Order: sequence, then C-alpha cells, then structure tokens
Amino acid sequence: MKIIRTITEIKEQLKKANGKSVGFVPTMGFLHEGHLSLVNKAREESDIVVMSIFVNPLQFGPNEDFERYPRNEEHDSTVAKESGVDLLFIPSVETMYPEEVSLELKVTKGTDVLCGRSRQGHFDGVATVLTKLFHIVEPDKTYFGLKDAQQFSVVHTLISQLNFPIELVGLPTVREDDGLAKSSRNVYLSQQERAESTILYKSLQLGKKLITEGNRDSDAIVNEVKQYINKNTDAIIDYVELLSYPTLDKLDKIDEQIILAIAVHYQKARLIDNIILDPNGTQIDTIIK
Ligand code: PAJ
Repeated sequence: MKIIRTITEIKEQLKKANGKSVGFVPTMGFLHEGHLSLVNKAREESDIVVMSIFVNPLQFGPNEDFERYPRNEEHDSTVAKESGVDLLFIPSVETMYPEEVSLELKVTKGTDVLCGRSRQGHFDGVATVLTKLFHIVEPDKTYFGLKDAQQFSVVHTLISQLNFPIELVGLPTVREDDGLAKSSRNVYLSQQERAESTILYKSLQLGKKLITEGNRDSDAIVNEVKQYINKNTDAIIDYVELLSYPTLDKLDKIDEQIILAIAVHYQKARLIDNIILDPNGTQIDTIIK
C-alpha cells in the first residue's frame, strides 16, 4: 500500500493503472469495521482500491467538532493496509483547499429534514469535497455506508445530476454486538452513555415491529419511538423522523420504501442511526445505483 499526500502523485499512480477498475472509499479516518466493510466490498469488486482520509472542514459547522474530531493516522494506515487498500490518499487541508474557498455546491432538496436541518450547510460541504475527490480519483465504483443514509441519498443525487460515470454502492450498517452502530464518534461516550446507547437501535427495532404488525401511521410510530428513547436514556433527542427513502419526503401513511432515522445528543457526542424498510417492514440493507 502506498500512502499519498498530493493530488499530482495520486493522479500519477492512477494513470499507471490505466485500464484497471478503481474502487473508491472516501472517509474521514479513525477507521473501524464500518469503514473496512466498504473496503472489503471494493476489494472484491475492483482491481485497485483507493481510500481517502480527509477531515473536511467545509462540512463542519462553527460549533461542531472539526478540531477535536478523532484522528489516528498510524492506526488507520495499518488497518487500511491489512484490509487491502492499494492507495491511501491523505491530503492536508492546504492540499484540498489551497486558496480561499469561493465556490461551493448547494444541495437544494432533502436538506430541511434529518441532519440537514440541524447541520446547516453540512451536505453542501460533503457534496463539494466529494466532487473534488471524484475528479481526482475518477473511480469506476464508490462505496458508502447506509448508516449515513441522508448522505447516501445526497451522493446519489450528486452522481446522477452532475453526470459522474460512477456506480454507487450502499452497504449495511456495521454494529457492535449490542446493536450500537459503529462510529468514530463513539469514543466521545462516557461509560454510562455507552451502556445506554444500545437503546438507539432498540428503538428502531420497535418502529420496525410496529410497521411489520401493520401500523401505517407515521406520526404514531415516531411518537412511540420518541417515548421509548426518552424513557430509557438521558440523551436529548435531536430528531426522530419517518420519511420516504431515498426521496426524503414527509409521509402521513406508509405506502412506499421508508427510512426511520434518529439523532440524539449525549454530553460530547451526537449519534445517528436509521433503518430503511419496504412498506411491509422488511429491512433493506444494500442499495446499488
Ligand atoms: P466517515 O464518517 O469517515 O464515513 C466514511 C464512510 O464510512 C461513509 O460512507 C459512512 O457511511 C461509512 N460508515 C461509517 N460508519 C459505518 C458503519 N457503522 N457501518 C457501515 N458504514 C459506515 O461520511 C464521511 O466520513 C464523510 O462525510 C465523507 C463521505 C468522507 C465526506 O467527507
């Protein structure tokens, strides 16, 4: 595995690979099994696997955790190498944004819901950095986790509306044994919060059970999930929403593919989780576009 820090060098390396298929996994590092599941799939399907590690300042709000976002390049390069990454691209902020940023993409639909509402401008920053990374790497396929389902929906729009010739693969959320979705931000949890955090996935399972049993009333389901969370943890709910997926429209009645998504604040961590279900309550965990 080669570690590469400049755009010129990664382009040179990829030029040498001429004709071989390239699978790309963009990340912000502090790698865990969730990230590595994307690498594993890319490894199966592509000749060359490229991973990027870049904590992108454009997608963090002024009061968010850009400065203290966990970083560990040594650990990341070891596990990236072990899991079969060929080119590990770790640009600095100066490399990605050498001059004052004076142009940014704007996501105009689906950002008044879920994380878009509480993280103003976040998805504009994600779309902008991914546009740059897609131009730099020019992958055949790119791999994302459905844990960040709203991000997946934005990436789908980006690829289709800006005509990137890239296949988008969305893969299942990797969880701890007790159900907590793996996340680089889980290190912010206190011991007690970590113990309570299992309630997030349990609350989604409760929502799923209601739908499987035939409940089609989205407000009623959202209320039950909220009550369950409030009863079982001190975390403050940011949102519990049930929307169409991937279009992210509000629904009174469940009659199409939906997402049930939650975000909660602990003292130092904001955690998100979701499940995507067909109208009968069967879970969808892989999407290829
Ligand atoms: P990051 O949070 O590092 O996540 C990188 C990729 O790993 C994303 O596609 C995310 O959905 C996936 N991922 C994270 N946790 C996962 C889990 N438990 N199971 C499966 N996949 C998981 O998402 C970003 O970085 C950034 O916004 C980025 C796309 C790199 C743009 O800056």
